[in-house]
Amino acid sequence: MERANSQGLPIRFVDRGEGPALVLLHGFVGSADYWEEIVPLLEKHFRCIVPDLLGHGQSEAPQGAYTIEQLADGVLSILDTLNVEKVILLGHSMGGYTALSFAERYPKRLRAFGLIHSMPLPDDEGGKQKRTAVAERVRKEGVKPFVDEASPNWFAPNAETTMPAALERVREIGYATSREGAAGAAFAMRERPDRGHVIRNSNLPVLLIAGSEDGIAPPEKAFAAENAQTSKYVIEGSGHMSLFEAPQQLARHIASFAEGL
Ligand code: MLT
Repeated sequence: MERANSQGLPIRFVDRGEGPALVLLHGFVGSADYWEEIVPLLEKHFRCIVPDLLGHGQSEAPQGAYTIEQLADGVLSILDTLNVEKVILLGHSMGGYTALSFAERYPKRLRAFGLIHSMPLPDDEGGKQKRTAVAERVRKEGVKPFVDEASPNWFAPNAETTMPAALERVREIGYATSREGAAGAAFAMRERPDRGHVIRNSNLPVLLIAGSEDGIAPPEKAFAAENAQTSKYVIEGSGHMSLFEAPQQLARHIASFAEGL
């Protein structure tokens, strides 16, 4: 893994493949490993830059509440380190919240952006309370009990029987998140604002991908905002984790979007 510095904090990332630059951001308690099935399908045609966001994977996980803006600034520091001027930026779930913050502030660094199982909407009051509860829980217990309990809900129903290996792999990746990193990121998600305007007011191409069985970012939330250049796809039968549930389909949608730019 390579390393950039964001406000003095090391941010690790994978840089593989050749072609137009594609930056792939993972979700909550994920890491660059969330893209391990996707990168091999894309790296022949694209340069895949895949960070461990602040608080995750091998990047730094300082104490305290993070902001989505901080996560996005980590991505900017990677582009600056690599001297890459413009990229296609795609984020899974929390990575999508991060992509929107980046697109809001650094649109000149983008050729296009997209959300995968994500949404521009903020947490409602109930959602904010759950974030606080998750942050307090992981600080007290570590991430494992939370990941064990929550992870089946990230997949389409019956993942324990239909895709036990994928569920286990996602859990393993989750376990590697430190309690401070998970708590800091939960607070970041709690405080994120509505960013529908970032999509609606952008003149960049936007990719929105939803899973028909996603209980976290269902299609009506994933498609809550669009502009004239939005490409929308629903992956039938997939939950929140098409990166593992339907990697071929997800990679095909990404490749055809990026090739069409
Ligand atoms: C994620 O996968 O990043 C989270 O499910 C996002 C969220 O809880 O809003």
